[in-house]
Amino acid sequence: MTTVAMPNVGSALDRVDGLEKVTGRARYAYENFPADLAYAVPVQATIARGEISAVDVDAVLQLPGVIAAIWHANAPRLAPRNGDPELAVLQSPRVAYRGQYVAVVVAETLESASEAARLLRVRYDADEHDVELRPGHPGLYRPDHVNPYFPTDTEQGDPDAALAAAPVVVDATYSTPAEHNNPMEPHATVAVWDAEGLTLYDSTQGVSNIRGALAPLFGLPPGSVRVISPHVGGGFGAKARAHPHVVLAALAAKQVGRPVKLAVTRQQMFAVTGYRTPTIQRVRLGADADGRLTAIVHEAIEQSSTVAEFAEQTTVPTRMMYAAPHRRTTHRLVRLDVPTPSWMRAPGEAPGMYALESAMDELAIACRIDPIELRIRNEPDVDPESGRPFSSRNLVACLREGARRFGWAGRDPEPGIRREGRLLVGTGVAASTFPVYRMPSQATARAEPGGGFTVRIAAADIGTGARTVLTQIAADALDAPMDRVRVEIGDSALPPAWVAGGSAGTASWGTAVVRACEALMDALHGRADDVPPEGLEASADTTQEVRAQRRFAQHAFGAQFAEVAVDMDTGEARVRRLLGVFAAGRILNPKTARSQLIGGMTMGLSMALLEESVMDHEFGDYLNHDFAQYHVAASADVRDIDAVWIEEDDPGLNPMGSKGIGEIGIVGTAAAIANAVHHATGIRVRDLPIRLDKIVHGAI
Ligand code: MOS
Repeated sequence: MTTVAMPNVGSALDRVDGLEKVTGRARYAYENFPADLAYAVPVQATIARGEISAVDVDAVLQLPGVIAAIWHANAPRLAPRNGDPELAVLQSPRVAYRGQYVAVVVAETLESASEAARLLRVRYDADEHDVELRPGHPGLYRPDHVNPYFPTDTEQGDPDAALAAAPVVVDATYSTPAEHNNPMEPHATVAVWDAEGLTLYDSTQGVSNIRGALAPLFGLPPGSVRVISPHVGGGFGAKARAHPHVVLAALAAKQVGRPVKLAVTRQQMFAVTGYRTPTIQRVRLGADADGRLTAIVHEAIEQSSTVAEFAEQTTVPTRMMYAAPHRRTTHRLVRLDVPTPSWMRAPGEAPGMYALESAMDELAIACRIDPIELRIRNEPDVDPESGRPFSSRNLVACLREGARRFGWAGRDPEPGIRREGRLLVGTGVAASTFPVYRMPSQATARAEPGGGFTVRIAAADIGTGARTVLTQIAADALDAPMDRVRVEIGDSALPPAWVAGGSAGTASWGTAVVRACEALMDALHGRADDVPPEGLEASADTTQEVRAQRRFAQHAFGAQFAEVAVDMDTGEARVRRLLGVFAAGRILNPKTARSQLIGGMTMGLSMALLEESVMDHEFGDYLNHDFAQYHVAASADVRDIDAVWIEEDDPGLNPMGSKGIGEIGIVGTAAAIANAVHHATGIRVRDLPIRLDKIVHGAI
């Protein structure tokens, strides 16, 4: 495959929808007000396991403005299906986790609905619950595969014998807490039924996905469900699939025969829109005295709910990172009385690479080798798992460029010796990676009379700049100026497309856009006269192209550098500098790309120092349900952050030559910071986040 010559692509262009957004004209899901609108407020379970025995509907129906109170006994029945069991909302009296939706109140106003939801009496027969992920849990099992389709376990050679024979061994257990996605815009759905079917104004990473999930539940053909989502205020995976609130809004609207609006509150998001599973990971590395790995063993345990299996791919990145003849990776899952985990930025890679890259730092210290040099010594020639060549692998170039920019040369590896008053200062490095995915999508390109073009695809711009980048791609493929090209996205009535997920949006949609534009250019060149009054349209479906055999291992790589200062009286760790150097194919828009990468890195800092959903084992739920108690890093938490990239020319990827950049920014950041904290203080924190109490206790 050759890449297409592209003058707009590669330029640091402003967002095409920037003005709309900053002037408030961009309309988000909650800002739709169809006529005769009613408001829905869900009621959440106050037990973690058991059954609903009764709901006192009549009492709240007496309240002013209340239209309906719906629970499983009076809810419309949804069609049985093979899809996500989380979406069987109000179909059973069973309670599987605290915070699960057990009822919904619909009223004339939000205030009436909220008050009635607060007063609705729900009676339960409660059972004992188990919400604690712990090593040795009797319920741990081996899932058939891990997300999205990887083998659960892999093994090559004899890792146990290799570890027993290795002159240097690191054997350490790392743990990461549950973390909750907190996009700026919480989830919201406005559901409208009419003679044609169901229309949903929804905040989603993929309109085609939501349509595909909702239509069968209500016994409708996909064409009878329309999902509209032109602007989305972030997702990070939390909006990549339909969550129960979407079904609840549609079900409530059907029941009352009116449009219904349902906003998920920030507090509710901590139960019903997914989260990153906690993990406990044991990493064993065996090496010779020169730091050459002979064995890598990475074993993870993680949780899912009793409702659905969600098996995060925690140890999958370890399969391709470093050369070693003897290797094993495993995943074990336990189904607890907890909400169902879901996607959160770099699922698998973010927690998995924290563990692996912390262990690599420990190995560097054990072997007295610089941690960058250690990684370079263990660079594989081919993908160690599959034996396939990498289409491009520039981890070493990222490490070297980062070392140069960060000022790594001459670093004294001795921990705990750089003092500035009460502060101890240190630096750390970690590698980063994310797989290259590309999924089938469709698009149309249309020449309008008068010289303009319209490109249509059911893509999503969740704040990434996708609308802008697709306009750049289309303009170049059409050989037209940007302002003559209009890209329409965010509507399931458009040609179906992959979600904004897996860092695969631009690669997937961009391929379809290029192919549709190429087909249109062919059609235009074949014509003697101008574009006809009705316009001229061409379409593309990339299913065949995308499914064609992949002969290469395809991954993006990066190197993360951090400098921290730790106050040894309070234990407070602050990140002074963060630098990420990435190799991710061609960067299509340096402005929006930088924003994605430093956003990911900031989220990695957040993971390192702040984010932690705390499970109360007696209460049976995560205790912290808001920003007062669940802390997310903001700009003030990192004063000096930069993301740069190296030139990478990889024609085997897609017509743009790009790899995904939405997720790689978070990968490795937490390890770089943990490694820097160790370098500063001599304290190795193996349990995220690096709270001040762990540093203070470590110092005693
Ligand atoms: Mo992303 S966690 O693949 O939506």
